[in-house]
Amino acid sequence: MSTPGAGHRPVLLERVLTLLAPALDRNGTVLVDATLGRAGHARALLDAHPGLVLIGLDTDAAAVEASRRLLARYADRVTVVRAVFDQVAEVLNDQGHSAADAFLFDLGVSSPQLDEPERGFAYSYDAPLDMRMDQSQSLTAAEVLNTYPAPRLGEVRPADSRRRGARAVPRTAHLDRATD
Ligand SMILES: C[S@@+](CC[C@H](N)C(=O)[O-])C[C@H]1O[C@@H](n2cnc3c(N)ncnc32)[C@H](O)[C@@H]1O
Repeated sequence: MSTPGAGHRPVLLERVLTLLAPALDRNGTVLVDATLGRAGHARALLDAHPGLVLIGLDTDAAAVEASRRLLARYADRVTVVRAVFDQVAEVLNDQGHSAADAFLFDLGVSSPQLDEPERGFAYSYDAPLDMRMDQSQSLTAAEVLNTYPAPRLGEVRPADSRRRGARAVPRTAHLDRATD
């Protein structure tokens, strides 16, 4: 069975390989890929560094499943864990490591998340505004936009502005898309 994303080449792959190379040149170095996605970076890094041990995290069950398949040929050097990257210290600990030599955080959405209308990330589809990275969680973007009190335009509170993606937007601007 072909795995979606198997042919995906991350845009900044060469830059990532160059930047991480000095940290990964010893046998047995440990890299944490904190946002594994479809393992595009992970596969290239494992190929470039035959002595590399990789611990990959993703919060999206579909990404974890696809990555396990895509990384099967490196199984003796790879551990894939479904977790949010806040849990990275715990995951490292569970794998018997007190530290890692390098960390990669490729923040954002993955191509499959954008390509699947029901995930609710893409503006190009008329679909419920879901936007959950971890679909085992119950809170959707639609629920936030339809039930949370909205700040008035220009009045983003300091606590709100620290949250990723917080915007002072008119509530009505989103109601059309935010219907289930
Ligand atoms: C841009 S993609 C990564 C692509 C990946 N570098 C590759 O080469 O295929 C970002 C990934 O981060 C994951 N993600 C988003 N928030 C996360 C979090 N808090 N913890 C772990 N993974 C997260 C998403 O599910 C998505 O798969």
